[in-house]
Amino acid sequence: MATERTLSIIKPDATARNLTGKINAKFEEAGLRIAAQKRIHLTKAQAGEFYKVHAERPFYDELCTFMASGPVVVQVLEGEGAIAKNRDVMGATNPADAAPGTIRAEFAESVGENSVHGSDAPETAAEEIAYFFAGIEVVG
Ligand code: CMP
Repeated sequence: MATERTLSIIKPDATARNLTGKINAKFEEAGLRIAAQKRIHLTKAQAGEFYKVHAERPFYDELCTFMASGPVVVQVLEGEGAIAKNRDVMGATNPADAAPGTIRAEFAESVGENSVHGSDAPETAAEEIAYFFAGIEVVG
């Protein structure tokens, strides 16, 4: 399997509870390398642009408000099959459905406040990484 990069976000519910290190340990234990990382506070407009694919969904406004409610840590994770591997490590979107040992099973509070985001496909990974990082900032 090829080496891939994927965009990860540690969400405001997790940064508020000081979980960045515990979540990063899960990534590293799974063989994912943190190739870029920064802590930022999104505006609601920046969150809305990032999640514009969900603009018609009923939870869009709530999602954007939440993502702008506190700091996030945006990251590029790199490794063999990184996109699928990260989704395995995160667990299901709804923590009630997430497998034991996954980040969302251990840390997420609800389907909305679910601690982490990860890209779902190579095209979206490339777009999402470019939204937050210049090429020179990503060092695998
Ligand atoms: P994420 O992987 O960041 O991608 C879109 C997000 O929308 C998702 O995680 C959830 O946090 C959020 N989401 C999905 N369904 C709902 C819902 N029913 N109510 C609130 N937020 C949701």
